[in-house]
Amino acid sequence: MSLNADRSYKMKLRDVENAFKYRRIPYPKRSVELIALLAISCTFFLFMHTNKLNSRLKEMEVKLQPSEFSALGLTGNHISGHDAGKHDDINTLHGTYQYLKSTGQLINVTTLRLNNTRRARRRVVVFNRPTRVGTQHMFPLLRLLCEHNSVNLVLKGPVRRLSRMRTSKEERIETRWVSRLENGTLYLAHGNWINFGAYYRRKPIYISLVRDPVERMIDNYYQQRTLTKQMISRNIYPGYSQHTDAWYKQSFNECVRRASPECQYIEYSVKDEVKDFKRQSLFFCGNDVDCLPFNTRYGVQLAKRNVDKEYSVVGTWEQPNITLTVLEKYVPRYFNHARSLYSLHKQSYRNFNRGYAVDADVRAMVRRNFSREYDFYNFCKQRLYKQYLALQLEKNVH
Ligand SMILES: *[C@@H]1O[C@H](CO)[C@@H](O)[C@H](O)[C@H]1NC(C)=O
Ligand SMILES: *[C@@H]1O[C@H](CO)[C@@H](O)[C@H](O)[C@H]1NC(C)=O
Ligand SMILES: *[C@@H]1O[C@H](CO)[C@@H](O)[C@H](O)[C@H]1NC(C)=O
Ligand SMILES: *[C@@H]1O[C@H](CO)[C@@H](O)[C@H](O)[C@H]1NC(C)=O
Ligand SMILES: *[C@@H]1O[C@H](CO)[C@@H](O)[C@H](O)[C@H]1NC(C)=O
Repeated sequence: MSLNADRSYKMKLRDVENAFKYRRIPYPKRSVELIALLAISCTFFLFMHTNKLNSRLKEMEVKLQPSEFSALGLTGNHISGHDAGKHDDINTLHGTYQYLKSTGQLINVTTLRLNNTRRARRRVVVFNRPTRVGTQHMFPLLRLLCEHNSVNLVLKGPVRRLSRMRTSKEERIETRWVSRLENGTLYLAHGNWINFGAYYRRKPIYISLVRDPVERMIDNYYQQRTLTKQMISRNIYPGYSQHTDAWYKQSFNECVRRASPECQYIEYSVKDEVKDFKRQSLFFCGNDVDCLPFNTRYGVQLAKRNVDKEYSVVGTWEQPNITLTVLEKYVPRYFNHARSLYSLHKQSYRNFNRGYAVDADVRAMVRRNFSREYDFYNFCKQRLYKQYLALQLEKNVH
């Protein structure tokens, strides 16, 4: 059918061409009819292909600008490939600086370029942190800061369902609710980035945190198995099927070595054995189904694009000094005095990296399967360093 349609479409096209070529009559009645017909069939074709085109365009957009989405003009894949020895320290502050300097890119490292807070249209911060990135360690500081800067701290949103993705109905509820928050609110959201523009809402200031993907998984693994979790599970849900003692006692090493489904991280997988939120990039990619397959180039590129264009700051609690400096300078209304409050109360923030005993080869095995997640994580760190360097270059840190 579509072949026939295609053929008749071409025939009509030829007719119209001929009408103009050979007859040289400006606009005879028949031709006008033909043009109308042609227009109608074109509309039909366009309509049929719009959906396909949209997703193709989205793909192309990401493909066409790969370097724009690697903060240094290099992707994490290049860095973690066999060149690793050479660029060993590129994911450190100093390495990033050296790299930018040697390639003449420092000229573009300016606070003006790197400040997305200017582009927000609401005076509300949405902090959509991924699970297990250490928000609980930052929390006492957040409370102090909000008190200090007269910021209204909001911990619970309208959608409470803990899930990997939000439906568009939930997105609509969430965006409407956020749009009604008063100026000077910091909202700790659970959930993926939402394109407020798609719901005709003004966009807020987005910030977030990331963490080394494998450390995040290890932490999560042991957090599922704490004694407290076990007690709660057995006492509050006694009738439900319980994990065995062996499950609670199993180490991450054993889990990975035995290839237990819980510790299998398979590229493109969509189904999860346990709720471990292994896709850190998903929080930044959004609620698009294409964001869901694990460790894909597409999802990670989209996540990078969003960090680059939509987030004011994506920090990491692995480096509180740098993160707090950048937050303080790029989102000052909310994070003024962050560093001094942090150093005053430093003792009260619990030790972040607990250093679970995990064998090096097990770590390496898991790391390999998180290759693109590392690409994303390194991208976020490089961008954070750039923001920090821009402050230093403009003598704006004091
Ligand atoms: C600086 O940014 C501009 C505009 O984005 C770009 O055309 C130029 O190549 C960049 N310069 C360097 C040295 O990266
Ligand atoms: C909130 O801030 C915006 C500017 O971002 C301003 O236009 C608006 O009047 C403020 N609303 C209130 C209630 O202060
Ligand atoms: C890593 O991925 C490979 C290929 O999909 C799979 O065979 C292997 O079991 C995975 N390993 C882990 C630890 O997830
Ligand atoms: C962080 O900043 C504090 C105070 O400004 C300083 O004492 C400490 O050494 C810094 N830590 C790191 C890792 O740079
Ligand atoms: C970034 O933009 C915000 C909002 O305009 C402003 O308050 C802040 O000072 C800027 N930060 C830097 C480092 O330019």
